[in-house]
Amino acid sequence: MVYEPKFYRCSECGAILEAITPHCCDELFCCGKETELMRANELITLEEKHMPVVKREGNTLTVCIGRVLHPMSSEHSILWIEVKSKYKTRRVMLKKGDDPVVTFNIPETIPVTVYSYCNLHGLWRISA
Ligand SMILES: [Fe+2]
Repeated sequence: MVYEPKFYRCSECGAILEAITPHCCDELFCCGKETELMRANELITLEEKHMPVVKREGNTLTVCIGRVLHPMSSEHSILWIEVKSKYKTRRVMLKKGDDPVVTFNIPETIPVTVYSYCNLHGLWRISA
């Protein structure tokens, strides 16, 4: 079973915090204020431009954000993509102008959960 992480966002500075232990409390503080526990969106529609699309071929796992690629402008972009398995977490930070497409080397028999974060539309998740 893949551990379900908790992601928090600071409403003051925009920092994202990830609790990496399952017993983390729900009250984390940043900038002197309690952070917001983010809920991952899991709505799957063909038009959804935020949903991670996962393709696995052998040990190559490719994550593409959206069936139509998500924008990657300075105002609106995917900031990171994270792939979590039972024993490892891999995160790629993206920047303006990058394609929101990332490949990872993960054996295809290992189940993963993929997260992505849009600076305007929040946290997205899918299991593969
Ligand atoms: Fe977005």
